Amino acid sequence: MPLAEESKKTAQAQWIRPFKAKGGARYIQIADMIAESIQSGSLQAGDQVPPQRTLAAELGVDLTTVTRAYAEARNRGLIASYGGRGSFVMGASAPGAQARIDLTMNIPPQPANGSMAERVGKGLEEVLRRQRIEALSTYQDEPGTRSAVQAGQAWLQPALGDLDLRGLSVCAGSQAAIFAILSSTTRPGDSVLCDPLTYPGLLLAARQLGLRVVAVEGDADGMRPDALERAQQQSGARLLYLNPTFNNPTAQTMPAGRRAQIAATLLRLQLTLIEDDPYRYLLDDAPAPIATLTGGANTYYLASLSKCLWPSLRTSFVLPPRDDDGDRLHAGLRAASMGCSGLLLGLVEHWIRSGTAKALVEEIQREARARQQLARSLLSHEVQTHPSGLHLWLPLPAHWNQSLFTHALDEVGVNVAGADSFSVSAQAQDAVRVSLGGAADQASLGLALRKIEALLKEDRRRNSRAFV
Ligand SMILES: Cc1ncc(COP(=O)(O)O)c(C=O)c1O
Repeated sequence: MPLAEESKKTAQAQWIRPFKAKGGARYIQIADMIAESIQSGSLQAGDQVPPQRTLAAELGVDLTTVTRAYAEARNRGLIASYGGRGSFVMGASAPGAQARIDLTMNIPPQPANGSMAERVGKGLEEVLRRQRIEALSTYQDEPGTRSAVQAGQAWLQPALGDLDLRGLSVCAGSQAAIFAILSSTTRPGDSVLCDPLTYPGLLLAARQLGLRVVAVEGDADGMRPDALERAQQQSGARLLYLNPTFNNPTAQTMPAGRRAQIAATLLRLQLTLIEDDPYRYLLDDAPAPIATLTGGANTYYLASLSKCLWPSLRTSFVLPPRDDDGDRLHAGLRAASMGCSGLLLGLVEHWIRSGTAKALVEEIQREARARQQLARSLLSHEVQTHPSGLHLWLPLPAHWNQSLFTHALDEVGVNVAGADSFSVSAQAQDAVRVSLGGAADQASLGLALRKIEALLKEDRRRNSRAFV
């Protein structure tokens, strides 16, 4: 064998390691080997990975396992395949170079055991086995979604207790529900009330519909009932939006006592609440939803699966107010889209009924806890968060403003969301939201957090004219 061929083979062999007994599916482990070797530098940008048959023979696995592994590696952006030429390591990992770490998106972390792709694959296989392809091919109307909604009722029952769930429906994400509720209950120029720092999707929808967003003052317990009453009287608003459990972005959770006061106030003022509650399902100690305190009256309750299971499910359960037949909501949803994907809804139903959803929540919680611990150990600054929450809210020290901080962090390859994305007022406080689920793994999260900590300690005022 020529020397060059020989050394290439040795290089290949170096990055292949034995399978771990409890390391998950073999195709995932192969993709992990490629990722680890890129991180350690033993595979570099432009290196060719072995032909699939060669690798299958070396590892003693089926060709299909390697085919799936390479597809997984391509999906992760690790390799690119060129018909007839083979597969090559992608660019971002030139020696010393580090990939950008994006902590701007509030997504759940992948469970550390790498089980997600396998769960999705197996779940979809099961859906296709149980349901006729014809049934999965149509637009999903009410009878078609009934069975998934029944699964949703079982899913929500522990949180919603005695609430009548007969009016429950399902839609393609809470953002779609928010838009549908706003568009079907308001006219341009109307006001909608919310916290001063709130979910950007609400601001986006309100702006699109020509609504006025009015911030209501709060304190350490969240929105104040007296400020709510005043803002309602001054603005004439009929609609209030709250994300009272692990607020995006402040991580604040409204305690039970304040929820009761807000419930009483909105019933007295005949205000309608949109209670957006996607984060509760990762917290073990969340107080009961406000919807349970109003007996379901005047409250749309939104339970997205994006944060506790998987954003790609594009599924949220929506309970309209108790004495509302849901017609306006459904008209709003229909006007914007033709419902959920039958395939994904099949997966949601299968996951809930088989117990996979519950197991997945637990795995995500476990990973979220580990990431929160990592953040606690690496950041010396005061942050607002929850031990199993997806993000943290980091008020900046006086020597930083949020715009300079996010730019400086961007220059060292880390992205976080500045407070202005969430602020009703143009004058946002100096703080950033760090989404811990955005990093591919704990190692890259650690790297990003170290950069954040180093930057927090730097005082750029000394060498920046921007502060003068
Ligand atoms: C408070 C809140 N509501 C809704 C959403 C979006 O939910 P979905 O993915 O179901 O549209 C998010 C996502 O960031 C969120 O933080």
